[in-house]
Amino acid sequence: MENRKPLMAANWKMNLSLHEAGELLTEIKKAEIDFNKADVLVAPPFTTLPLARDLLAGTAIHVAGQNMHWEEAGAFTGEVSPLMLKEAGCSHVILGHSERRALFFETSTIINNKAAAAVETGLIPILCIGETLQQREEKKTFYIIKEQLQESLGSFSQKTVLPKDLILAYEPVWAIGTGKTASPQQAQEVHAFIRSWLRETFDNNTGKVTTILYGGSVKPDNIREIMAQPDIDGALIGGASLKADSFLSIVRFYEG
Ligand code: PGA
Repeated sequence: MENRKPLMAANWKMNLSLHEAGELLTEIKKAEIDFNKADVLVAPPFTTLPLARDLLAGTAIHVAGQNMHWEEAGAFTGEVSPLMLKEAGCSHVILGHSERRALFFETSTIINNKAAAAVETGLIPILCIGETLQQREEKKTFYIIKEQLQESLGSFSQKTVLPKDLILAYEPVWAIGTGKTASPQQAQEVHAFIRSWLRETFDNNTGKVTTILYGGSVKPDNIREIMAQPDIDGALIGGASLKADSFLSIVRFYEG
């Protein structure tokens, strides 16, 4: 895994009341985590962000938004700006999750705008890509991944520089919330492909240093095998991040 530090990122999606969130955050905060071995991040819904910021203040746990608009301010009813996320305590923002792409019609061009705005504001994007089951069955996985990378990172590849901290997350759509994990080999194959695309589009070093997470039905019983793959640097965890015991067991994958 070269020198890339593992990152375990909890994507809570639209789950947990403020009270439940407070309980879960308190348990995560109390847990013994070796932060030399893994970085940890939680992405709660917008309304929970200030609570997460306050409860996690002084810890090494990062807070992320699950989405944002690319403009600074204005008449965009229902949207949240990059600066608002920063004020609410976020260091990162998840962008282009397949649920945003499929249910809210976000295109890779929109996601590129958001990624550029995030970087400009000092937020680290966690940019998601992944193929559907149909695309995989039609053997279009690599074509789709390449197209999503080209379009979602378009403004960066034009300048031939990828922001240093930008994180990618490979999440095969058919593995999200379905209990079907991509086999570690299937995931590794796509991660290696992404890394070679980064090398070709940017340079060798970008291919080497960029953190690429895997997401889709990650659980305590498959995390070790996933993390054993050379090009996988961590996980974006949905369902299993909503309970302290399963999330912490994933975070502490390094205990073996
Ligand atoms: P899951 O979700 O772990 O519930 O499959 C992952 C994600 O959508 O980020």
